[in-house]
Amino acid sequence: MITIKSPREIEIMRRGGKITAKTLAMLMAAAKPGVTTAELDKLADASIRSMGGVPTFIGYNGYPAAICASVNDEVVHGMPGPRVLHDGDLLSIDIGTTFEGYVSDSAVTVAIGTISEAAQRLMRVTQECLMLGIAQMQPGNRLGDIGHAIQEHAESHGYGVVRALVGHGVGRKMHEDPQVPNFGKAGSGPVLRKGLVLALEPMITEGTYEVATLDDGWTVVTEDGKLAAHFEHTIAITDHGPKILTLRDSAEHPDVARYRPAEEVAA
Ligand code: MF3
Ligand code: CO
Repeated sequence: MITIKSPREIEIMRRGGKITAKTLAMLMAAAKPGVTTAELDKLADASIRSMGGVPTFIGYNGYPAAICASVNDEVVHGMPGPRVLHDGDLLSIDIGTTFEGYVSDSAVTVAIGTISEAAQRLMRVTQECLMLGIAQMQPGNRLGDIGHAIQEHAESHGYGVVRALVGHGVGRKMHEDPQVPNFGKAGSGPVLRKGLVLALEPMITEGTYEVATLDDGWTVVTEDGKLAAHFEHTIAITDHGPKILTLRDSAEHPDVARYRPAEEVAA
């Protein structure tokens, strides 16, 4: 069942989303060569709690940490631990905050030190996929328009779109209906309407889109060992179109309607 949020609920989610955004921005700055993923997790936990939130992931199906930290061929759900980040690593950081009973969920992929041009391109295109998906969150559009926009952009660059994991509705629970695939057919699926809040999270791969889960029961990796990137925002549909509730700062394309991928700006 798809739930529609009232303006009052969306306002609470925006305040919680700020905690998520500020914490993620802090972690992006802290993610440097020599730092362990467990250290980032500790920072995240303290940051979320200092602003009155609770880390959503802890205890979720027994998950032990506040963040997911997924390195290189790890797609999502990498568990924080003693792993040291090295120059050239590609790190996805995923966090969730529960605030006044509502969840916000967001992720970024960041470069550790200097990364290859291929990794930079994968990272950039994945972020563009997220923004292009968000741009489809207009009242009257359909759910399939989101996945279609994401898939088109990723595949036009020769990348894979992970099928096994999808975005989701978000609200009182982290995972609500509907599921939001990062692939699909334009004009298909339920009509999007005001008050719908979704977590869009494209997971894009350099090679095959097939994934496997490691023996720890959590870490999802690419089957061919090639790189993956992952970006996520929590977004509400308003009368005026999509509102990103986990926006980190105004430099991060606040005006979705005018957003264009970098290569189109250059052309
Ligand atoms: N952003 C992820 C998701 O939407 C976070 C879940 S990690 C978990 O599925 F550990 F909490 F499960
Ligand atoms: Co999510």
